[in-house]
Amino acid sequence: MTTETLRPLSEILESRRSCRAFLPESLSDQELQDLLAPSLRAPSNCNTQPWYLHVASGDALERLRRRLPDDFANGRMTLDFPYDGKYSDVFKERQYASAQALYGAMGIEREDKEARQAAFMRNFTFFDAPHVGFFFLPEGFSEREACDLGMFAQSVMLLLEAAGLASCPQTALAFLSDSVREELAIPSDQRLMFGLSFGYADPDAPANRCVTDRADASQLISLHR
Ligand SMILES: Cc1cc2nc3c(=O)[nH]c(=O)nc-3n(C[C@H](O)[C@H](O)[C@H](O)COP(=O)(O)O)c2cc1C
Repeated sequence: MTTETLRPLSEILESRRSCRAFLPESLSDQELQDLLAPSLRAPSNCNTQPWYLHVASGDALERLRRRLPDDFANGRMTLDFPYDGKYSDVFKERQYASAQALYGAMGIEREDKEARQAAFMRNFTFFDAPHVGFFFLPEGFSEREACDLGMFAQSVMLLLEAAGLASCPQTALAFLSDSVREELAIPSDQRLMFGLSFGYADPDAPANRCVTDRADASQLISLHR
Protein backbone atom coordinates (compact mmCIF):
# COMPACT_ATOMS: atom_id res chain seq x y z
CA MET A 1 0.00 0.00 0.00
CA THR A 2 1.37 3.38 -0.93
CA THR A 3 -0.10 6.84 -0.74
CA GLU A 4 2.24 8.02 -3.49
CA THR A 5 0.52 8.64 -6.79
CA LEU A 6 1.42 10.12 -10.09
CA ARG A 7 -2.07 9.67 -11.49
CA PRO A 8 -3.76 12.91 -12.49
CA LEU A 9 -6.70 13.90 -10.29
CA SER A 10 -9.08 13.76 -13.26
CA GLU A 11 -8.21 10.08 -13.72
CA ILE A 12 -8.72 9.35 -10.02
CA LEU A 13 -12.13 11.03 -10.15
CA GLU A 14 -13.00 9.05 -13.25
CA SER A 15 -11.93 5.66 -11.88
CA ARG A 16 -13.52 5.96 -8.41
CA ARG A 17 -16.67 3.90 -8.25
CA SER A 18 -18.77 2.55 -5.43
CA CYS A 19 -17.35 -0.87 -4.64
CA ARG A 20 -19.72 -3.54 -3.31
CA ALA A 21 -17.40 -6.52 -2.88
CA PHE A 22 -14.06 -6.39 -1.07
CA LEU A 23 -11.08 -8.67 -0.50
CA PRO A 24 -10.14 -9.48 3.13
CA GLU A 25 -6.68 -7.83 3.02
CA SER A 26 -6.57 -5.03 5.59
CA LEU A 27 -4.38 -2.06 6.55
CA SER A 28 -2.60 -1.53 9.86
CA ASP A 29 -3.61 1.38 12.09
CA GLN A 30 -0.42 3.18 11.08
CA GLU A 31 -1.24 2.74 7.39
CA LEU A 32 -4.80 3.96 8.02
CA GLN A 33 -3.53 7.04 9.86
CA ASP A 34 -1.00 7.88 7.13
CA LEU A 35 -3.53 7.34 4.38
CA LEU A 36 -6.42 9.27 5.93
CA ALA A 37 -4.61 12.23 7.53
CA PRO A 38 -4.40 14.38 4.36
CA SER A 39 -8.23 14.32 4.12
CA LEU A 40 -8.24 16.73 7.07
CA ARG A 41 -7.10 19.43 4.61
CA ALA A 42 -10.68 19.48 3.25
CA PRO A 43 -12.21 22.97 3.38
CA SER A 44 -15.02 23.91 5.76
CA ASN A 45 -17.06 26.95 6.69
CA CYS A 46 -14.78 29.23 8.78
CA ASN A 47 -12.41 26.24 9.08
CA THR A 48 -14.67 24.77 11.74
CA GLN A 49 -13.87 21.21 10.58
CA PRO A 50 -17.27 19.94 11.75
CA TRP A 51 -16.62 16.25 11.37
CA TYR A 52 -15.64 13.11 13.20
CA LEU A 53 -14.57 9.97 11.39
CA HIS A 54 -14.69 6.69 13.31
CA VAL A 55 -13.07 3.74 11.55
CA ALA A 56 -13.86 0.20 12.69
CA SER A 57 -11.58 -2.71 11.80
CA GLY A 58 -10.78 -6.11 13.31
CA ASP A 59 -12.90 -7.14 16.32
CA ALA A 60 -14.86 -3.87 16.39
CA LEU A 61 -15.84 -4.41 12.76
CA GLU A 62 -16.80 -8.04 13.38
CA ARG A 63 -19.04 -7.02 16.31
CA LEU A 64 -20.82 -4.54 14.05
CA ARG A 65 -21.06 -7.12 11.26
CA ARG A 66 -22.81 -9.50 13.64
CA ARG A 67 -25.11 -6.89 15.10
CA LEU A 68 -26.27 -4.56 12.31
CA PRO A 69 -28.10 -7.06 10.06
CA ASP A 70 -30.02 -8.30 13.09
CA ASP A 71 -30.85 -4.79 14.33
CA PHE A 72 -32.08 -3.77 10.87
CA ALA A 73 -34.11 -6.95 10.34
CA ASN A 74 -35.75 -6.47 13.74
CA GLY A 75 -36.74 -2.87 13.10
CA ARG A 76 -34.28 -1.30 15.53
CA MET A 77 -33.72 1.61 13.16
CA THR A 78 -32.64 5.02 14.41
CA LEU A 79 -31.78 7.91 12.08
CA ASP A 80 -30.09 11.10 13.26
CA PHE A 81 -31.12 12.91 10.07
CA PRO A 82 -34.48 12.43 8.34
CA TYR A 83 -34.52 10.32 5.21
CA ASP A 84 -37.23 12.22 3.39
CA GLY A 85 -35.83 13.01 -0.06
CA LYS A 86 -38.56 12.39 -2.66
CA TYR A 87 -37.09 11.88 -6.09
CA SER A 88 -39.17 12.89 -9.10
CA ASP A 89 -38.61 13.77 -12.75
CA VAL A 90 -34.97 13.66 -13.81
CA PHE A 91 -33.84 12.69 -10.31
CA LYS A 92 -36.17 9.71 -10.31
CA GLU A 93 -34.82 8.73 -13.76
CA ARG A 94 -31.24 8.87 -12.51
CA GLN A 95 -32.11 6.87 -9.40
CA TYR A 96 -33.78 4.23 -11.59
CA ALA A 97 -30.78 4.13 -13.96
CA SER A 98 -28.30 3.63 -11.11
CA ALA A 99 -30.37 0.77 -9.67
CA GLN A 100 -30.57 -0.78 -13.14
CA ALA A 101 -26.79 -0.48 -13.54
CA LEU A 102 -26.17 -2.20 -10.21
CA TYR A 103 -28.74 -4.99 -10.46
CA GLY A 104 -27.92 -5.48 -14.14
CA ALA A 105 -24.24 -6.00 -13.26
CA MET A 106 -25.27 -8.48 -10.57
CA GLY A 107 -27.67 -10.31 -12.90
CA ILE A 108 -30.67 -9.51 -10.69
CA GLU A 109 -34.03 -8.96 -12.39
CA ARG A 110 -35.94 -5.85 -11.37
CA GLU A 111 -38.90 -7.96 -10.24
CA ASP A 112 -36.74 -10.26 -8.11
CA LYS A 113 -37.46 -8.58 -4.77
CA GLU A 114 -35.81 -11.33 -2.73
CA ALA A 115 -32.47 -11.03 -4.55
CA ARG A 116 -32.62 -7.24 -4.35
CA GLN A 117 -33.28 -7.41 -0.63
CA ALA A 118 -30.36 -9.82 -0.14
CA ALA A 119 -28.10 -7.45 -2.10
CA PHE A 120 -29.32 -4.52 0.02
CA MET A 121 -28.68 -6.40 3.26
CA ARG A 122 -25.01 -6.68 2.28
CA ASN A 123 -24.78 -3.00 3.22
CA PHE A 124 -24.92 -4.10 6.87
CA THR A 125 -22.02 -6.53 6.53
CA PHE A 126 -20.02 -3.84 4.71
CA PHE A 127 -19.81 -5.86 1.49
CA ASP A 128 -17.12 -7.94 3.29
CA ALA A 129 -14.83 -4.90 3.60
CA PRO A 130 -12.04 -5.05 6.23
CA HIS A 131 -12.71 -1.44 7.29
CA VAL A 132 -15.74 0.77 7.71
CA GLY A 133 -15.70 4.50 8.44
CA PHE A 134 -18.61 6.38 10.01
CA PHE A 135 -18.95 10.10 9.29
CA PHE A 136 -20.47 12.09 12.13
CA LEU A 137 -21.58 15.72 12.36
CA PRO A 138 -21.42 17.41 15.78
CA GLU A 139 -24.88 17.96 17.28
CA GLY A 140 -26.60 21.24 16.43
CA PHE A 141 -25.24 21.55 12.91
CA SER A 142 -27.31 21.33 9.75
CA GLU A 143 -27.09 21.62 5.96
CA ARG A 144 -24.19 24.05 5.80
CA GLU A 145 -21.91 21.91 7.92
CA ALA A 146 -23.22 18.77 6.22
CA CYS A 147 -21.64 20.16 3.02
CA ASP A 148 -18.32 20.37 4.86
CA LEU A 149 -18.72 16.77 5.95
CA GLY A 150 -19.41 15.74 2.34
CA MET A 151 -16.23 17.48 1.14
CA PHE A 152 -14.27 15.70 3.84
CA ALA A 153 -15.78 12.35 2.84
CA GLN A 154 -14.99 12.87 -0.86
CA SER A 155 -11.41 13.72 0.12
CA VAL A 156 -11.22 10.40 1.96
CA MET A 157 -12.66 8.52 -1.02
CA LEU A 158 -10.22 10.11 -3.46
CA LEU A 159 -7.24 9.37 -1.21
CA LEU A 160 -8.35 5.74 -1.02
CA GLU A 161 -8.76 5.56 -4.80
CA ALA A 162 -5.34 7.18 -5.35
CA ALA A 163 -3.76 4.54 -3.10
CA GLY A 164 -5.38 1.68 -5.04
CA LEU A 165 -8.17 1.04 -2.55
CA ALA A 166 -11.91 1.22 -3.12
CA SER A 167 -14.89 2.37 -1.07
CA CYS A 168 -18.66 2.59 -0.91
CA PRO A 169 -20.46 5.49 0.78
CA GLN A 170 -23.57 4.16 2.53
CA THR A 171 -26.59 6.01 3.84
CA ALA A 172 -27.92 2.56 4.76
CA LEU A 173 -25.50 2.51 7.68
CA ALA A 174 -27.01 5.74 9.03
CA PHE A 175 -30.29 3.85 9.56
CA LEU A 176 -28.70 2.28 12.64
CA SER A 177 -27.06 5.27 14.31
CA ASP A 178 -27.74 4.15 17.90
CA SER A 179 -26.35 0.67 17.24
CA VAL A 180 -23.15 2.12 15.76
CA ARG A 181 -22.75 4.66 18.55
CA GLU A 182 -23.32 2.05 21.24
CA GLU A 183 -20.99 -0.57 19.72
CA LEU A 184 -18.12 1.91 19.22
CA ALA A 185 -18.81 3.93 22.42
CA ILE A 186 -19.29 7.16 20.47
CA PRO A 187 -20.67 10.18 22.40
CA SER A 188 -24.37 10.89 21.84
CA ASP A 189 -23.67 14.45 20.63
CA GLN A 190 -22.12 13.06 17.42
CA ARG A 191 -24.77 12.53 14.71
CA LEU A 192 -24.24 9.85 12.09
CA MET A 193 -24.61 11.00 8.47
CA PHE A 194 -23.36 7.96 6.52
CA GLY A 195 -20.86 5.14 6.52
CA LEU A 196 -18.06 4.18 4.14
CA SER A 197 -16.94 0.60 3.66
CA PHE A 198 -13.43 0.41 2.25
CA GLY A 199 -10.55 -1.88 1.39
CA TYR A 200 -9.27 -3.57 -1.74
CA ALA A 201 -11.89 -4.29 -4.41
CA ASP A 202 -12.64 -7.86 -5.41
CA PRO A 203 -11.98 -7.58 -9.15
CA ASP A 204 -14.02 -10.70 -9.96
CA ALA A 205 -17.25 -9.73 -8.17
CA PRO A 206 -20.19 -9.02 -10.51
CA ALA A 207 -21.32 -6.11 -8.27
CA ASN A 208 -18.06 -4.35 -9.05
CA ARG A 209 -18.81 -4.36 -12.77
CA CYS A 210 -21.45 -1.69 -12.12
CA VAL A 211 -20.66 1.54 -13.91
CA THR A 212 -22.98 4.51 -13.49
CA ASP A 213 -23.22 7.32 -16.00
CA ARG A 214 -23.43 11.06 -15.52
CA ALA A 215 -25.39 13.87 -17.09
CA ASP A 216 -23.59 15.95 -19.72
CA ALA A 217 -21.56 18.80 -18.26
CA SER A 218 -23.61 21.24 -20.33
CA GLN A 219 -26.75 20.25 -18.39
CA LEU A 220 -25.33 20.82 -14.93
CA ILE A 221 -22.50 23.30 -15.26
CA SER A 222 -23.55 26.65 -16.69
CA LEU A 223 -20.93 29.12 -17.76
CA HIS A 224 -21.90 32.78 -17.55
CA ARG A 225 -20.04 35.87 -18.72
C1 LIG B 1 -24.04 9.93 0.63
C2 LIG B 1 -24.14 8.67 -0.20
C3 LIG B 1 -24.87 7.60 0.29
C4 LIG B 1 -24.93 6.40 -0.44
N1 LIG B 1 -25.58 5.32 0.11
C5 LIG B 1 -25.46 4.11 -0.47
C6 LIG B 1 -25.93 2.94 0.20
O1 LIG B 1 -26.49 3.00 1.28
N2 LIG B 1 -25.71 1.75 -0.40
C7 LIG B 1 -25.09 1.64 -1.61
O2 LIG B 1 -24.91 0.50 -2.09
N3 LIG B 1 -24.64 2.73 -2.28
C8 LIG B 1 -24.80 3.95 -1.73
N4 LIG B 1 -24.28 5.08 -2.35
C9 LIG B 1 -23.57 4.94 -3.63
C10 LIG B 1 -24.35 5.56 -4.79
O3 LIG B 1 -25.36 4.68 -5.19
C11 LIG B 1 -23.34 5.84 -5.91
O4 LIG B 1 -22.42 6.81 -5.49
C12 LIG B 1 -24.01 6.35 -7.19
O5 LIG B 1 -24.89 5.39 -7.73
C13 LIG B 1 -22.95 6.70 -8.26
O6 LIG B 1 -22.16 5.57 -8.53
P1 LIG B 1 -20.58 5.57 -8.31
O7 LIG B 1 -20.31 5.92 -6.88
O8 LIG B 1 -20.16 4.15 -8.63
O9 LIG B 1 -19.99 6.57 -9.24
C14 LIG B 1 -24.26 6.29 -1.68
C15 LIG B 1 -23.56 7.41 -2.18
C16 LIG B 1 -23.49 8.58 -1.44
C17 LIG B 1 -22.68 9.74 -1.96
